[in-house]
This record gives sequence, structure tokens and C-alpha cells, in this order.
Amino acid sequence: MIQTGQPEDVSQHGMWRNRWIFILAATGSAVGLGNIWRFPYITGENGGGAFIVVYLASVLLLGIPIMISEVMLGRAGRHSPVLTMRRLAKRAGAHPVWVFIGWNGMIAGCLILSYYEVIAGWTLNYAYNHLAALFSSTAESAPPTLAAAQGQWEAFLADPWRLILCQTLFVVITVAAIARGVNKGLEVVIIWSMPTLFILLLGLVAYSVSIGDMAATIDYIFRFNWDALSIGGVLAAVGQAFFTLSIGMGAMMTYGAYLPANTSIPGAVAVIALLDTLVAVLAGLVIFPIVFLNGLAPVSGPGLLFVTLSHAFNSMAAGAIVGMLFFALVAIAALTSLISLTEPVLSWLVEKYNAKRWRVAISIGVICWLLGLGTVFSFNEWQHWHPIGTFTFFELLDYLTANILLPLGGFFIVIFAGWVLPEEVVQRQLALGTNALLCWRIATRLIAPIGVLLIFSYTLYRGFAG
Ligand code: PHE
Repeated sequence: MIQTGQPEDVSQHGMWRNRWIFILAATGSAVGLGNIWRFPYITGENGGGAFIVVYLASVLLLGIPIMISEVMLGRAGRHSPVLTMRRLAKRAGAHPVWVFIGWNGMIAGCLILSYYEVIAGWTLNYAYNHLAALFSSTAESAPPTLAAAQGQWEAFLADPWRLILCQTLFVVITVAAIARGVNKGLEVVIIWSMPTLFILLLGLVAYSVSIGDMAATIDYIFRFNWDALSIGGVLAAVGQAFFTLSIGMGAMMTYGAYLPANTSIPGAVAVIALLDTLVAVLAGLVIFPIVFLNGLAPVSGPGLLFVTLSHAFNSMAAGAIVGMLFFALVAIAALTSLISLTEPVLSWLVEKYNAKRWRVAISIGVICWLLGLGTVFSFNEWQHWHPIGTFTFFELLDYLTANILLPLGGFFIVIFAGWVLPEEVVQRQLALGTNALLCWRIATRLIAPIGVLLIFSYTLYRGFAG
């Protein structure tokens, strides 16, 4: 059985009130721009149903073992990822270099934070545009044609001041949400955000499915087009599983550190992975029926949400209000991911300097805001500056984090959990029966590490080969 309630078995940063809060918080971390903006278009691009099968396999075979490992390490260490890894390596009699997992995660977290806040800011701008369209009929708030919507999008990106304004708003909201601590800050945001997110999402699905073009949507997303699935598509599916589950950078480890001792980790992780996947599919069911209804082509990239879908809303009777709600939904999803990106580095600084939480929160906010200016300028002033290869500054951060730092972190996390962590700690955390233990060993010692290694090598190879 799982041991409960040792006096030191709590985190100094606070504890989740119960396991449902943990599940909601971790789901909030997982559900973000990755689900609503990225998943729908890469699914369509890569063969629909065929892509979903590979994605689901990646979630099951790589994502779930890594997430269980990460949450388990967090709960066993009860500190920020850096201190957790230091303590666990010591307990295992392993080399202190394992603390590198914590550092890698904090660096990845800050880099993702810096660009994620900028992109999250765009959703605020578009929520505002649709709200403004409710009250006025000027072309500025609701461009009448697709070309005009594209023009509006380009003009928006070309204006650094506006991007900085939106980014700053999001930084302030994130800092305010996180500064007040696990119980008064994170939990409060999560308790309000997550139900709102689900209600909005289900409402939007009902709207979209009832009026939209479902036949074209089903054809686009769910058709098993194996021919359209290239090796690149397989990589995209695995990468998507990593990014969307928030694994490899210590967010889940930090959330695991606040998890009560008597909660089943595999059970919680299964629910989180399921909800995350469900949201991705539901987001597709909001977006595509409306896009196809308006006879639009689902272009890829940022344009899908901010040009195509936004224009589709503009062309519809209740579009202004629905569009406003949709972009508010994306903003909420982004906020709960952002707080999980901040918490690992925040908890480390609080531990290291015994500093006040709000001071640390503001410092991280300022630093990531400054770093985020690089992303802002990547769309205008610096759009022709390519620090490496053809990448802009933003694309470089995106590639470095999603394709290199997260898989690297995930790989070492699962190796540590599978090979290094003493069996006794694993059993105290997971309380596995004989068969489950065998599955755990196969998954964490062989399947997940080898899978990540293969993908990682291929990504590097492709990256360097151009
Ligand atoms: N999972 C988030 C999304 O899908 C992104 C994220 C990555 C959040 C890593 C935290 C850590 O948008």
C-alpha cells in the first residue's frame, strides 16, 4: 500500500487540496495552444485518422510512462525539479549530475514562457476584435473578406507596440495568478478556469456541430489517409504528444510535488492524458465545421485560428459573440499552461533564496517579458534576422524547446525513473502489482527511452541536414 502522511511528506510551497485539484491543474497545464491551435491543423495535414492513431500511440507508449515518471519523481522529492533531482540522486546513490534534469527543465520553461506569453497575447487581441465587432461595423474590427482578414493579421504582426501591449497584459495576469501561492493563487485560478473552459468548449462544439459542415470536417480530420502520413508526420505526432502533455520540463514534476501521498498517480495520469486528447479533438470539432461552412480552406500555422477561423466568425450572424468566446477560451487555456511553466523556476528560486513568492513571480515576469521581446520582434523588426539557418529568433526558441529540450528532459526523466530510482521508492509511490510492475519496467526501461531516442536522433539529423 501507499504510505501516507509522514511529517516531511509535504511540500513547503503548499499542497493541492485534493487529487481532483491536481488533475484539473495538470490538465490545465496540458491543455493549451498546443491543443487548440496546433493539433487540429497538423492532424489534417498529416493524414487525419492515420495521424491520430500515431499520436495516440505516442501518448500511450511514450507520453504516459514519462508523465507517470515525472509526477512520481516530483512526489518522491517534494521540491522544485532541481532540488527534487538532487535529493533523489542522493537517495539512489547516483551521481549528482542528474540535477541536470531540473536545470534543463527550468531553461526550457523560461524559453517557452517567453514566447508562449506573446502568442497568448494574440488571443486577447482577437477576443477584443470580436468584442469590438459587436458594437461597431467598421472593417477594422471585422474585415469583410478573407484577404482583408489576412491584411489585418499582417498589420497586427507588423506593429510591435501592439504585440508588446498584449504580451504585457498576459505577463501581468500570469504573475498576479501565481504570486499568491499554490492554494490562494494557482488553485483559485484553476477552480475557476477549468470548468469555464469545459463549458465554453462544449457550448462551442454544440454550436459548431449544429450549424457547421460536419461531413467535410469528418472527412478532413477522421479519414484514415495513410498515404498522407510521412515519416515527418510520425515525428510531428510524437512531438505533439510531448508538447501537449507538458512533459520533459518539470511542470508535471513540480505539480507532482504538491500531490497528496495517497493519490494513485497512474490513475490520475490516465485521466489527464484522456482529457487532454479529448480537448484537442473537440477543438477540431469547433474549428473545422465553421471553416468549411464558410467555404474556406484550412490553411496551416497561426493563420488557421487568427485569419481563417476569425474570418469565418466575421461572416456569421452570431459570429462576433461566438468569436469573442472562442478566443477567450484559448486565452484561458493558455493561462493555465503559463502558470505551470512558471512554477518550476519559481519554486526553485523560493527555495534557493528563501525569497518571497510575489517578488520571485515579478522577477520571472520581467525577465521572461524581456526575453519575449525577441519573439515580438521576430514578426516585424527582426523578421529577416536568422540567428541560425533559416530560423527567426522565435522559430529557434520553438525548435530548441519543443524538439530538443523537452525530449531530452523526457528521456532522462524516464531513464532515471526506470533504471536509477530504487525499487523501494517506486513501489512506495506507485504500489504496483506483479503484472503492473512488469509493464512499468518494459515501458520505462525499454519502450519509452528507445522511442524517444529514435525520434530525437532523427529530429537532430533532420534539423542539421536542413
Ligand atoms: N501543454 C501546453 C500546450 O499544449 C504547453 C506546455 C508545454 C505547457 C510544456 C507546460 C509545459 O499548449
